Amino acid sequence: MKKLILFLSVILITLPTLRAVEGMWLPSLIHKNMEEMQAMGLELSALDLYNPDGVSFKDAIVRFGRGCTGAFISEHGLLITNHHCGYGQIQRHSTVENDYLTHGFWATNKDEELPNEGLTITILVRMEDVTDQIRAGLTPGMTEKEFGAAVDSISRKIERAAAENGRYSAQVNPFYFGNEYYLFVYQIFRDVRMVGAPPSSIGKYGGDIDNWMWPRHSGDFMLFRVYADENNEPADYSPDNVPYRPAKHFSISNRKLNEHDFTMVYGFPGRTNRYLTSHAVDFIMNKENPMGIEVRTDILRIYEHFMAQSDTVRIQYAGKHAGISNAWKRWMGENRGLAQLDAVNVKKQQEEKFEQWVNNNPEIAAELSGLINEFEETYRLYHPYRFAFRLYFETGRNIELVRFAGQFNRLVNLSMNSETDEETLRGEVLRMQDAAERFFRDYHAPVDREIMTTLLEHYTQRSQQGYMPPVLEEINKRHKGNFDDFTHRVFRRSMFASKESTLAFLENYRARDHRKITRDPAYSLASGLIDFVTSDIQVPMQMAQNTLDSLYRVYTASLKEIYPDSLFFPDANGTLRITYGRVEGSYPRDAIQFLPYTTADGILEKAAQREIEDYRISERLHYLLDNRVYGDYASEDELVVNFVASNHTTGGNSGSPVLDSQGNFIGINFDRSWESTMSDIMFDPEQCRNISVNSRYILWVIDKYAGMGYLLDEMKIVN
Ligand code: ARG
Ligand code: GLU
Repeated sequence: MKKLILFLSVILITLPTLRAVEGMWLPSLIHKNMEEMQAMGLELSALDLYNPDGVSFKDAIVRFGRGCTGAFISEHGLLITNHHCGYGQIQRHSTVENDYLTHGFWATNKDEELPNEGLTITILVRMEDVTDQIRAGLTPGMTEKEFGAAVDSISRKIERAAAENGRYSAQVNPFYFGNEYYLFVYQIFRDVRMVGAPPSSIGKYGGDIDNWMWPRHSGDFMLFRVYADENNEPADYSPDNVPYRPAKHFSISNRKLNEHDFTMVYGFPGRTNRYLTSHAVDFIMNKENPMGIEVRTDILRIYEHFMAQSDTVRIQYAGKHAGISNAWKRWMGENRGLAQLDAVNVKKQQEEKFEQWVNNNPEIAAELSGLINEFEETYRLYHPYRFAFRLYFETGRNIELVRFAGQFNRLVNLSMNSETDEETLRGEVLRMQDAAERFFRDYHAPVDREIMTTLLEHYTQRSQQGYMPPVLEEINKRHKGNFDDFTHRVFRRSMFASKESTLAFLENYRARDHRKITRDPAYSLASGLIDFVTSDIQVPMQMAQNTLDSLYRVYTASLKEIYPDSLFFPDANGTLRITYGRVEGSYPRDAIQFLPYTTADGILEKAAQREIEDYRISERLHYLLDNRVYGDYASEDELVVNFVASNHTTGGNSGSPVLDSQGNFIGINFDRSWESTMSDIMFDPEQCRNISVNSRYILWVIDKYAGMGYLLDEMKIVN
């Protein structure tokens, strides 16, 4: 295959639905899955889930912030998402005196709800297949670059028209690497207020120990309310705004959860890589993940060392620790799962089958033979760049001082540009003063000093020849590999290493002061790394990526022909999806069985391990559970806390509502089990389970634990 093929002309892509559970489906195409969903127990129709001409469940789903999902649970704009999704907002409202992270937060009426600058809620208004419009602008024989430019320009045109002069935000996304295109039209709400959050000892129960694990006992939920102007339209925050009236909201189930019940998860999954070839899977398993795991093991060791010594540092680094630990643990689980499934060999067999199929079809053999080789060759080019890119993110970017100093880049550029007016410059100085306040609030230089030494060592030792940033090479040479020495000098000399010197510098900032920034050792390291990575790594990496996309476009289009009995869903790309399965456990390891749900008794069991801090609970929770004060939220004297089900989910599905066969809200998705994490690349119906908080535990926490029964009054609870 020498020339690029834009579309596989011989094969028409229609997406079959034969065997599911695996898959994240587009709501507007969900009718294709209906037969199976109904056979599994669903009592609703496709139009109940997504209706282009009327109200449907999709109107009750939102994208929360940038990376999570949420759901409306009252006609007054009450919204539920995960505690870990609103964690940043809780942290920002918390002070030592009002520590909402530790003690929780509950508004006792609407006036006490707290606004959150910058937080947005995105609602899908409609989606539309625009493949034909895009294709109409493409001509055979286009290079990949011309192809990309044409797609971009048509997409922008479609988006502009759909935005209706700023009323909506519109986006065209490719599916199957550009075999199909869909337009998504969104409404974005900007006045979103915090209504209630349980204490971390409920919302983040089990902490990083239990993260990605089953059995789980976490109340990972919290409540917000969306506000709108008097026309129910998005508006900036104003005390005059009124609760948004969503077109649809979910009824909350207070019914007993049963094994094998039908479930579906409706939300915004971020990214999956279901179609990767063996070359990419091999690289992830053997290069990318091990590097990330090893670097982060060191970061976590350093964080934990300092966090154990001081409560202040423990609080300052709680969020960072959670973030670093989250992917670290996921990569380990992913590698375990991929090895278990023998993923590289499975992929290789698929590739062999593909080649056989090509050779058996003479009319396409001319076009497609050699495709797998071309993958291999392109990956050989791509992977060193990809590794250098990831290495920069795991090392350079995880040095806080480097990341912070790098933010002054904009100020330098504005200062050096003679056309920058005084007001713009002032604005940027103010922005950086703000950034400094926020940065130093959670910064402890001794932690970062040790991080810098360790990560620069990783960075130099792991850089492949020809891919090391020159700035690093120079430091390495000058200090003869002794980064301790270098680090101490940087921390002694950089003004960005302390809040006082940073703010003092910004105080009377004038444009010519930019030289002081560029001479700063932390800044020059940061800008040296950024410049190298953006121009020498990202540019060629993107070129190889474009070639890969064009290969995948052909490859995915042909899979359907080769595997007529299989089901191929478009990789998650941050757009709204439906996935479905059942409440069910699994057999994760020899002699171990996972039961489908946990109960409040398990919280008491864990809490009895007094030495584990993440398992401690408040006296109040202990009292209520010990005395089995379950109210109407238990059946057979069991208060269900979390459950597992076979829905195919990924990051971004956090906060997604889990719905029963009638569309009632039975829980909120927040995690996957350790044995599931390879599902972003390869799904295993025997093992892959998503983890959710049962709605009855949510109701119980709001009512019995927090005493906020007034919030239940606006919900529709089905018994
Ligand atoms: N693993 C879940 C996710 O990927 C939850 C992460 C937050 N919780 C934590 N203990 N770090 O986002
Ligand atoms: N906790 C993840 C999130 O924040 C969901 C877990 C997963 O990756 O499936 O989206």
